[in-house]
Amino acid sequence: MCGIVGYIGPKEIVSVLLGGLEKLEYRGYDSSGIACVLEKEGCAKLVSVKEKGKLISLKGKLAKTKGVSGHLGIGHTRWATHGAPSTENAHPHGDCTGKFFLVHNGIIENYAELKRELIRKGHRFSSETDTEVAVHLIEEYYNGNVLEAFRKAIRRMNGFFAFVMITAHEPGKLFAFKRSNPLVIGIGAGENFVASDVPALLAHTRRVIYLDDNELAVVEKDKVSVLQLESGKPLRKEISVIKWDTRQAEKEGYPHFMLKEIYEQPHVIETTLKALMKSRRVLFENINASVEKRLKKIQRVHFVSCGTAYHAGLVGGYMVEKCVRLSPRTAVSSEFRYENPAINENDLIILITQSGETADTLAALREGKARGALTLAIVNVVGSTIAREADCVIYTHAGPEIGVASTKAYLAQLMVLALFSVYFGQLRGALPAKRANGFMKDFLKLPSQVREVLKQEKVILRCAQQLYQKRNFLYLGRGFNFPNALEGALKLKEISYAHAHGYPAGEMKHGPIALIDQTQPVICLAPFSCTYEKMISNIEEIRARKGIVISIASRGDGEIQKLSHYVFYVPQTEEMISPILTVIPLQLFAYHIACLNDRDVDQPRNLAKSVTVE
Ligand code: AGP
Repeated sequence: MCGIVGYIGPKEIVSVLLGGLEKLEYRGYDSSGIACVLEKEGCAKLVSVKEKGKLISLKGKLAKTKGVSGHLGIGHTRWATHGAPSTENAHPHGDCTGKFFLVHNGIIENYAELKRELIRKGHRFSSETDTEVAVHLIEEYYNGNVLEAFRKAIRRMNGFFAFVMITAHEPGKLFAFKRSNPLVIGIGAGENFVASDVPALLAHTRRVIYLDDNELAVVEKDKVSVLQLESGKPLRKEISVIKWDTRQAEKEGYPHFMLKEIYEQPHVIETTLKALMKSRRVLFENINASVEKRLKKIQRVHFVSCGTAYHAGLVGGYMVEKCVRLSPRTAVSSEFRYENPAINENDLIILITQSGETADTLAALREGKARGALTLAIVNVVGSTIAREADCVIYTHAGPEIGVASTKAYLAQLMVLALFSVYFGQLRGALPAKRANGFMKDFLKLPSQVREVLKQEKVILRCAQQLYQKRNFLYLGRGFNFPNALEGALKLKEISYAHAHGYPAGEMKHGPIALIDQTQPVICLAPFSCTYEKMISNIEEIRARKGIVISIASRGDGEIQKLSHYVFYVPQTEEMISPILTVIPLQLFAYHIACLNDRDVDQPRNLAKSVTVE
């Protein structure tokens, strides 16, 4: 939910911290700040500057603040959880003495009781945040040994958090801790870094250490020590090398990350197919023999995720039903985790998540594991918490997705789900080889088919120019394309702030048809399918009431043109994978409606890229 950076080394601290925070603003952007060690005449003093608003506000304040310099410091960009977005609530937070400063990502669940205890002991608080409790607790426990005070304070706190702290008592060190929320250490030459996510490091290093839960790190300019929180035992951690190209995390000339990511989708499908399909066979390197053995016995399948990933789970449910002949259930993580699910070792829980850090999905994973279920995560961010805690992980190869509105990650999720369904169907003997081969052939056509759909952007823009002032939109779909009605509505809602609702088209007569009049735009997903005729009937009903019909149709369908005000065509393909194509016009439509309304497309209001709080 928030972005954290830390640095120690020869470079000028302010520019390193701001450069890192720029790459993490997508994680939250309602306020930001830095703190660093001023080395003067042998004694160390800490200074902090923070500001409400986006990073640009902090930069402006720093330009007017003299004497902020040095070679060790921390930075933070915030998405408010406790305490409104404000300068006082911005991180870093300091203790009463000004000798400790700390940044935090996550939630300290017992902060209220700890705050009361610390106030009784005379501590003075300057913010409403839970974070500030942590730094006063460290101050309270400090008696000459910083690391021990840090450990003792952490053991008093419940919840999920990533911390990085600096102190005037040991001015050559960064102190870091990770539990559930991400934290990665960048290994440089004579310098080291700490960050919430890899893009903040790529300008300096590709060599990283992923901290695991309940691990502490003491980071100096030429040494990194990692130890286990409870035992204090030193741990050996392997260094991973990041293969992402720095430019991948940049906009590459597009006006917004979202548009860039929409246009990356053909490449994402290609990369995913290359990674998971070897000579027409589906190969998941992380599904080992013991997992495969369990998959053969699984009796029930549950898809559990949030938002766009939930819509992918709905599509996955239809795919597994078709290929494996099991009847999966798809649940929203925040419901699943509290419903005391009746599951056991015969259940497979498939968690889908772009960030791998969504709090509700992580909690659902832990619920499932605690009940003996087999947990399989479909994740985009390598080394993320959910990826590391699930019994098995399949990575979507979408690369960093910076736009808050998920596009390429969704397409990659659908691709992985299609591949997994074919693999699972064959494993269970439910999908004949001939049928599986047919699917494989269709998969290989997808990159060029996606490119073909993208060529319609101008047609979609012209339609958006006619409709961008509308405030209510209805999306209808059936079967494999019903979830895309929900996804199209979510895309529009979250970046244009217009109201949009997705419905199974068969439900029209049970209420939504009352909405239809000459002012109401209705987006109808109607590619050739076993329910195509039913969709045409729905479109007729809308026409009869003068509704505005925008259809997503199969290339070659002349009929639908006569019934629609606008038609966006997709190549004909197997119904099961048609959602991979039909969602693209919905993404572009939402994008242009938002741009025409001058919205902040990549960082829409009230949202953040990774929802690591409940
Ligand atoms: C989708 O455009 C939204 N940004 C949001 O619904 C998102 O899909 C949801 O928060 C789940 O995130 P995750 O995939 O990282 O778990």
